[in-house]
Amino acid sequence: PIVPVILAGGRGERFWPLSRQNRPKQFLALDGTGRSLLRATAERLLPLAGDWANLLVVTAAPLVSGVRKHLPELPEDNLLVEPEGRDTGPAVALAALSAQARRGPDCVLGVFPANHWIGEEAAFQQAVVRAAAVARARDVLVTFGVQPTYPATGYGYIERGEELGDPDGVSIHRVAQFVEKPDAETAARYLASGRFLWNSGMFVWRAGVVLAELRRHAPQVVKPLEEAFPDAVTAAYGALPRISVDYALLEKTDRVVVLPASFGWDDLGDWTALERLLRGQGANVVVGRHVGFDTRGSILYTTGDDLIVTIGLEDMIIVRDSNVTLIVRKDRIQELKRVLAQLNADP
Ligand code: GDD
Repeated sequence: PIVPVILAGGRGERFWPLSRQNRPKQFLALDGTGRSLLRATAERLLPLAGDWANLLVVTAAPLVSGVRKHLPELPEDNLLVEPEGRDTGPAVALAALSAQARRGPDCVLGVFPANHWIGEEAAFQQAVVRAAAVARARDVLVTFGVQPTYPATGYGYIERGEELGDPDGVSIHRVAQFVEKPDAETAARYLASGRFLWNSGMFVWRAGVVLAELRRHAPQVVKPLEEAFPDAVTAAYGALPRISVDYALLEKTDRVVVLPASFGWDDLGDWTALERLLRGQGANVVVGRHVGFDTRGSILYTTGDDLIVTIGLEDMIIVRDSNVTLIVRKDRIQELKRVLAQLNADP
């Protein structure tokens, strides 16, 4: 078994008004099944972990009770709590230290975001098992590359280098270059070159290997934690830099390899992701109660008994949750962050 680590400390605000401060995206059941993304992530990883006792979750203090509610089976010691989020760099370092203390430096860790959608669970599990075999055999950091479909600027880009072999017909490549969130022009160039994949945000490595690479490339992240571990972690955390593992480590090290992520993947970036998740529903994507006519290409989401009524609408997103209603044109959903910034500044 491997030690899966779920990163569940993000603010995940892009599904506002459903996502709010104490209810970030990972706690939502976006597809209307009642199972939160965090719960689905844990259940998908459980066969790889073998047991709840082998699963680690890293989250920020304000989200602890939410995580416990969604994962009541998780042993208390397996929930690693950051006093406040410092992005994924410190979270990954803390998880590696904790896994190493439990299972030694050679134990294989998998790092998984709490809020992604995976299409085929069996294929996903197989890919992680394969990645774990690579991480056991070599001192490398394994990533999963997704075939890019448009010049996204919100993802990391992985340039495939030399091929390392293809056990079971799956080709493993060294990574020539890892570039986190390039600008639009660079992203378009990468896409056109055909040599780049998107970083899925999931990683597999041995605890000792990732800690050694962090010491080399991000000592400011790992050293204070190592010195404080395990008793004084909380006190040390506040002084850590806020940096993601992508910037802190993956852009810098030359030990990254990439496996194809051919299991169906979506990071559910914003409301329009529901169209991919709930595809084939007809003219609109509807969760909850909706009545109307001449309505097309729209995403309509309500909770409880609330009813949305629409006449003559096209390409809209309407989300109704308790005391808030969001109405926005689909092609302008990116601008939601402007509203959130304003609301956060002046609630
Ligand atoms: N514990 C903890 N603490 N978790 C965190 C923190 C933190 O401070 N910040 C974020 N997370 C969790 C989020 O909840 C999410 O599950 C995961 O870490 C990824 O964080 P994001 O902040 O959403 O990452 P991103 O989407 O901008 O970028 C990453 O994912 C992309 C794919 O979705 C990068 O790895 C990109 O390279 C990648 O393409």
